[in-house]
Amino acid sequence: MAQVEENTHTPAKKPPPMSILEVGGVPLPISSNEIWDKISKFEARPDDLILATYPKSGTTWMQEILDMIQNEGDVEKCKRAISLDRHPFIELTFPFKKKYDFEMALEMPSPRLLKTHLPSHLIPPSVWRQNCKIIYVARNAKDCLVSYYHYHRMTTLLPDPKSLEEFCQKFMSGEVAYGSWYDHVKGWWAAKDKHQILYLFYEDVKKDPKRETEKILKFLEKDIPEELLNKIICYTSFDVMKQNPVANYTALPTSIMDHPISPFMRKGMPGDGKSFFTVAQNEEFDKDYQKKMAGSTLTFHTEI
Ligand code: A3P
Repeated sequence: MAQVEENTHTPAKKPPPMSILEVGGVPLPISSNEIWDKISKFEARPDDLILATYPKSGTTWMQEILDMIQNEGDVEKCKRAISLDRHPFIELTFPFKKKYDFEMALEMPSPRLLKTHLPSHLIPPSVWRQNCKIIYVARNAKDCLVSYYHYHRMTTLLPDPKSLEEFCQKFMSGEVAYGSWYDHVKGWWAAKDKHQILYLFYEDVKKDPKRETEKILKFLEKDIPEELLNKIICYTSFDVMKQNPVANYTALPTSIMDHPISPFMRKGMPGDGKSFFTVAQNEEFDKDYQKKMAGSTLTFHTEI
């Protein structure tokens, strides 16, 4: 396994939380207008593969699946660096990294796998212009919310969420980094009719990883032997990834992610979210959900 670049991820003291800039009405973890200007002018390449998600929807999981596909199941290659350094986010600027992620991307050879949490309307125009293939992973709202809440608790990059109740109100009103979950999943759902987008659901990948990985392979026009497909599914299963230091974020110092508070690889189980809500919270959330998702053909499974 490649050594983690020590200095990149070992701040002497607690890093400041990411600054949040409102862009087009969406709170984004971007430090300045000047940086946003550079991100929006990011030059995509035609053979870039973009992985787009709302936070906590299984980004890291899909990243491992795609890395295994791109490296033809070579585990050593997939362990070349921790996930944060293998595939840059187009827009994320980590206060503890020496370089912005988009600068890291500029130096990467093709074909690149780039991640983004941006809503579809804020994607750099070059991604559409270059007709890049995009894989979007959506996860049901309650599980996403609960996962995001625990992530806020364990990382110093984001503000303390206080209580689940308070975080729930913020999530429903879109006052969290990357804004409204509802607008995000609907925006990308609409975009898939106009662009090369494979829209996947976390719950489907969990239920039938083989079928969903086959969909990905078809979308990427790749054919692999059955044995390799099985290897990819095993390597990217929750239990294996939870033990994988390049995928489970334990290589970061506790001043950035404190796993004893809540591990990054927490439960990975559809339907976990609703058990955190009281009956009254469930009712309020469901009522609001119906309103926000009214008219959309998008449906989610909350159980498998
Ligand atoms: P939980 O907090 O519900 O456990 P992201 O990578 O977008 O931040 O998403 C993190 C969520 O994906 C966490 O959810 C994490 O446990 C889950 N996850 C990561 N790898 C997974 C895997 N191989 N199978 C299922 N869930 C996984």
